Amino acid sequence: MNAISSEVYNYKVVRQFALVTILWGIVGMLVGVLIAAQLVWPALNLDTPWLTFGRLRPLHTNAVVFAFGGSALFATSYYVVQRTCHTALALPALASFTFWGWQVVILSAAITLPLGITSSKEYAELEWPIDILIAVVWVSYAVVFFGTIVKRKVKHIYVANWFFGAFIITVAILHIFNSLAIPVGMLKSYSIYAGVQDAMVQWWYGHNAVGFFLTAGFLGIMYYFIPKQANRPIYSYRLSVVHFWALIFTYIWAGPHHLHYTALPDWAQSVGMVFSLVLLAPSWGGMINGIMTLSGAWHKLRTDPILKFLIVSVSFYGMSTFEGPMMSIKTVNALSHYTDWTIGHVHSGALGWVGMVSIGALYYLIPRLYDREIYSVRLIEVHFWMTTIGIVLYITAMWIAGIMQGLMWRAVNEDGTLIYSFVEAVDAMQPYYFVRFLGGAIYLGGMLLMAYNVAKTIGSAKPATAPVLSPAH
Ligand code: HEM
Ligand code: HEM
Repeated sequence: MNAISSEVYNYKVVRQFALVTILWGIVGMLVGVLIAAQLVWPALNLDTPWLTFGRLRPLHTNAVVFAFGGSALFATSYYVVQRTCHTALALPALASFTFWGWQVVILSAAITLPLGITSSKEYAELEWPIDILIAVVWVSYAVVFFGTIVKRKVKHIYVANWFFGAFIITVAILHIFNSLAIPVGMLKSYSIYAGVQDAMVQWWYGHNAVGFFLTAGFLGIMYYFIPKQANRPIYSYRLSVVHFWALIFTYIWAGPHHLHYTALPDWAQSVGMVFSLVLLAPSWGGMINGIMTLSGAWHKLRTDPILKFLIVSVSFYGMSTFEGPMMSIKTVNALSHYTDWTIGHVHSGALGWVGMVSIGALYYLIPRLYDREIYSVRLIEVHFWMTTIGIVLYITAMWIAGIMQGLMWRAVNEDGTLIYSFVEAVDAMQPYYFVRFLGGAIYLGGMLLMAYNVAKTIGSAKPATAPVLSPAH
């Protein structure tokens, strides 16, 4: 059965993307651990410009979001669209181009960002020639994905493909419009937008990078891999369709919550806040749908570490989509903005939701892509606990640090003067930054364990004794 599957489906590009997901995950998180260490021991800048925090931070965000997260999305969407449409990928040469093109984008980022070459727009730092390559790769991705949908052998389009499709289309639009710029040299350009319009477009992009890159695509993963691993149908298919339309409609308006108390008109900030609060409903609808898929199969959580990764990831999704709307309330944001609370929120979404759901999906995929049994389920279990402990250390440290910072900055004496100088607040962060560094290092250790487990699985000469692939999608 497995041999037939590999003949029918194009697994080569899925395998390539799956392996680089692990590689870029390790690289991106290693840089994350390094910058976390620099915040504890600033001397780790080593007085070298390209090793400074300011240059490595965008390297970290680009590597984890676009190289690690992006490769996970390419791998899973290419796999899911083939399996659920009962057909091989359309245009295999173009699919292969998306793989190599994306790797060139990643390497270009890895070279230019440490050199200080940047457009200075957050999550869109890369300069115009790389932006053009991203647009070409992304449009090719859309052609392959939707081409496969068009040639499907079944009438129905499974809901995971709706999420992947929305993610692909929206990211193309966001990237192209936010990156419009006038080049003034090979490595320098200026945005066509200025002033508050620039900020508005940037956060329309930035927030929907969260909503579509870090959320919609990964919900596609949730809707395929949880039912598969639990061997249960989705709790409510109807809810998944409502979830889809409500989520994509609401997300697109919420960007201004990144610009509270700025020059952006007040009414626009309020629109952003209201839509962020509304966003709680579809987000939790989706979370409940994912978790309740385990109805009648809860016992599997005791023995199946892959399912643990997937279900705990959805719990973190629920947590960060509760926290986000709270932080979007202007009065709460007055405290949280600029503090490490935001960093804690980001990483409960990033490490908890995006990281864990990707890791779970990869553990599901690798044995099926290579027709091997996983080398060690026990190591997956250890990985699960390292990941969980790492996240808990990271986010609790950031919550305490963030709220403490916010309170210290606003504490005033009776005569209105500040109680604490800024540097006192920085000094108070030291222990929490150390705990975050520790949490990150443990999380990274788990990824190294995964790389070992996967290498041993692929390297093993023994094909799986029982078929690891199920016959229908
Ligand atoms: C209902 C869903 C969500 C809402 C309403 C929301 C809301 C917010 C708010 C209000 C901020 C702080 C803005 C500021 O003060 O500058 C924020 C920051 C952020 N959130 Fe969320 N969030 C949600 C879910 C998520 C999820 C699931 C992730 C990740 C997977 C995520 C990633 C981020 C990132 C990366 C930032 C930092 C942006 C930056 O300033 O660089 N969010 N979010
Ligand atoms: C070992 C794991 C990780 C460690 C140690 C780590 C560490 C860090 C550090 C130290 C920062 C800078 C915080 C600051 O400026 O004060 C940061 C920012 C960020 N990281 Fe991570 N990170 C890790 C994993 C990830 C992953 C897997 C993702 C996404 C999938 C991610 C996404 C981000 C984002 C979006 C920001 C910018 C947040 C903002 O501007 O508000 N990180 N990370």
